[in-house]
Amino acid sequence: MGCGLPVGVFDSGVGGLTVAKEIMGRLPGERILYFGDTARVPYGSKSKETVTEYSRQIMRFLISQEVKVVVVACNTASALAIDAMRREFEVPILDVVDPGARTAAEVTKNGSIGVIGTEGTIRSGMYSKFLYRLNPDLNVYSKACPLFVPLVEEGWIYDSVTREVARRYLEEFQGKGVDTIVLGCTHYPLLRNLLKDVVREVLGEGVTLVNPAVETAKNLKQLLSKKGLLAGGEELPEHTFYVSDGAEKFRSFANSILLCNVIETKDVAIKTFE
Ligand code: DGL
Repeated sequence: MGCGLPVGVFDSGVGGLTVAKEIMGRLPGERILYFGDTARVPYGSKSKETVTEYSRQIMRFLISQEVKVVVVACNTASALAIDAMRREFEVPILDVVDPGARTAAEVTKNGSIGVIGTEGTIRSGMYSKFLYRLNPDLNVYSKACPLFVPLVEEGWIYDSVTREVARRYLEEFQGKGVDTIVLGCTHYPLLRNLLKDVVREVLGEGVTLVNPAVETAKNLKQLLSKKGLLAGGEELPEHTFYVSDGAEKFRSFANSILLCNVIETKDVAIKTFE
């Protein structure tokens, strides 16, 4: 019972597709119901109250679609709204910050970790808090990178402008000895190749980039199997994609990053889910 229900995944836009992709790779039998809040992206510059209200509306929409679990594939919503969501809704909710912090704490060899994310995520101090809780001897350096999300949403993934912006942001970590950088926004893995180059130029060899989506997908597998909710079917499921605006633009972007073919993307009047 319940195994055949979809896994709800949401983000402010296309970023959560990096998490959906990991889930599709590790749990190919699971049907994903994705919501991207494209009308209201970016979340990173908005207040805790606003991000919480948006997240609650999305939760209500996903629950109306009978999802068996929700993956908050957005660091900003995870950092600012996860407690409110867990208090209000009974459906199991997974976030991306906890798995991101855990992976970074395991990966670092010298204990110096850089965290990059949206203004909201960095201001919340959530990553530092989780990391210091895991190991009080770590040194954590954080940098908000507000221009990355609009650049990704614009599709400027290999652009020289994005490269220059990345250089300016990452110079912040020079001289700090970081050997690990957490991609603390689900949009950032889409810049992974560019970031790897810039990190090498600015900080030298041997810095590992952590994508929290990998551990999040593992956590999801664990949770579903513990609750007896893993999908059992042999057939590849048909995923569904919803957005709050610009369905066609989203569809072509999604098709360029996901291995599955995004056949259809539907618009949802998300504000009505009060
Ligand atoms: N991709 C989201 C995150 O992980 C949100 C980015 C934004 O909308 O500012 O933080």
